[in-house]
Amino acid sequence: MPLPAKVKLVDVGPRDGLQNEKQPVSAAVKIELVERLQDACLRYIEVTSFVSPKWVPQMADNAEVMAGIRRQPGVCYSVLTPNMQGFEAALKSRPDEVVVFAAASEAFSQRNINCSIAESIERFRPVVAAAHAAGIPVRGAISCTVGCPYEGEVPPERTGMVARLMKEIGVDHIGVADTIGTGTPRKVQKAFEAALAHYGIDDVSGHFHDTYGQSLANTLACLEMGVWQYDTSSAGLGGCPYAKGATGNVATEDVVYMLEGMDIDTGIDMPRLMAAGRFISDFLGRKSNSRAANALAARQA
Ligand code: HMG
Ligand code: MG
Repeated sequence: MPLPAKVKLVDVGPRDGLQNEKQPVSAAVKIELVERLQDACLRYIEVTSFVSPKWVPQMADNAEVMAGIRRQPGVCYSVLTPNMQGFEAALKSRPDEVVVFAAASEAFSQRNINCSIAESIERFRPVVAAAHAAGIPVRGAISCTVGCPYEGEVPPERTGMVARLMKEIGVDHIGVADTIGTGTPRKVQKAFEAALAHYGIDDVSGHFHDTYGQSLANTLACLEMGVWQYDTSSAGLGGCPYAKGATGNVATEDVVYMLEGMDIDTGIDMPRLMAAGRFISDFLGRKSNSRAANALAARQA
């Protein structure tokens, strides 16, 4: 299969990247990160989540962050909404897309959202209906599609099952996530094959954490299947508070470097993207997790 000519990247850094940070990150810093990303021509940004502030304190300023962004036309600002309470709160912030999130592993579902997979689908059902009634598309993230921190390896049929359930309740698009980064290319491809039994190629995306250094290889493996949409995180920020040891998402800069090197258009302004990554890395007081950004910066110095 020819590789996709064009790839859509969703920068999830402000949400997935920062949700796990122990140090306080002010709303102003989050807003600046989002604005720097849009200035770098990212057209899809996952801004925040409307979850319980007791569970994820770092996202408690969700409404303030959404209200503070100087929105650019043509940019899609998405937010996580695990239930109706989250959706109703999110709606006031005028998101362009909402994200419900389930897991292919029962244990992870319990730890992450305090309910079974089946219960989570029932929580999402009214969210999907209400979002569609408001004209808002719904993405469904499926965590732990290859490995779970509590159950170990997860067979592809579990991803297929959750994809089917999401399809039944009307979720528009699904994201197949390797939450703890244990996936290797063939295993990730099998999870995608299971998802693609229920969704078309234009309605699936990849979400790879880089814990085991496999995320670029997994991205390439999915590009070879024709998958053209990916979640990435500037400076490779990220991690899930309920997946201990899981590190950040694949760095946006690394994916852009790889894609541009393969003549696949991303539309992203690399120098500005690197500046965004530098901004948040400096704030957090650590080196960027992007190998490409660090190498390019060293060459420029
Ligand atoms: P629960 O305790 O089962 O909910 O939590 P509940 O309905 O029983 O309510 C209990 C309390 O939570 C009540 O407050 C509610 O008001 C409040 P209290 O009376 O005790 O003061 N509550 C809420 N508050 C704000 N917003 C809400 C909300 N819902 C209830 N939406 C819940 C269920 C899902 C809320 C909880 O388990 C939670 O917040 N979990 C956090 C999940 C999370 O954010 N995880 C990280 C994101 S997922 C991820 O990173 C994976 C992903 O990147 C893909 C991948 O890599 O795999 C997407
Ligand atoms: Mg994630």
